Amino acid sequence: MIPSYANFGGKIHGGILLSLIDKVAYACASRHAATYCVTVSVDGVDFLKPVEVGDLVSLMASVNYVGRTSLVIGIRVIAENVRNGIQRHTNTSYVTMVAKGEDDLPAVVPPLLLESEEDGRRFLEAMTRRQLREEFRHAFNSEKGRIDVTENLDKLVEQRCVIGWE
Ligand SMILES: CC(C)(COP(=O)(O)OP(=O)(O)OC[C@H]1O[C@@H](n2cnc3c(N)ncnc32)[C@H](O)[C@@H]1OP(=O)(O)O)[C@@H](O)C(=O)NCCC(=O)NCCS
Repeated sequence: MIPSYANFGGKIHGGILLSLIDKVAYACASRHAATYCVTVSVDGVDFLKPVEVGDLVSLMASVNYVGRTSLVIGIRVIAENVRNGIQRHTNTSYVTMVAKGEDDLPAVVPPLLLESEEDGRRFLEAMTRRQLREEFRHAFNSEKGRIDVTENLDKLVEQRCVIGWE
């Protein structure tokens, strides 16, 4: 990680890591799908520990799940201090990519060979994550439409915000 990747606080900018995650997800997905892929969504972008200038960053990726045209790539990010060899797990992200055909439409991807129980666990976890995301999206969208600001002013008053309208 070179100095120009740093933010104003001297740590590596989150966007640099996101860019690396996206590129690695692309490489992993397109190799499995044997076609061009696009990023649809990213789950689990929590930066657990800062990455320092000079750290050696490694990203380990695997195809965890395939649907009909989508793939979920699990990516583990490790930052290593090269002077003392200490490694830190900075985050694990799950990137959903969609394979695209020559016609630019979603293309069917090959099935995934599960070589171990671990692979089976990752596949099942991805299915669960997908289902819970869908449930959350539905629940939030219906809740969002019901939020009435006037009726909920008391909740805002308890928060660290200042109400600036009459
Ligand atoms: C990806 C894209 C082609 C999907 O289009 P779509 O009309 O939703 O297509 P489909 O409904 O056929 O869905 C295709 C697959 O994407 C999945 N998908 C769609 N939206 C999704 C989302 N928000 N999260 C996770 N998966 C999603 C569907 O479940 C489906 O998977 P499956 O075939 O394995 O079941 C379209 O959303 C797109 O082009 N997005 C822009 C991508 C992009 O530009 N990325 C950034 C630059 S690479």
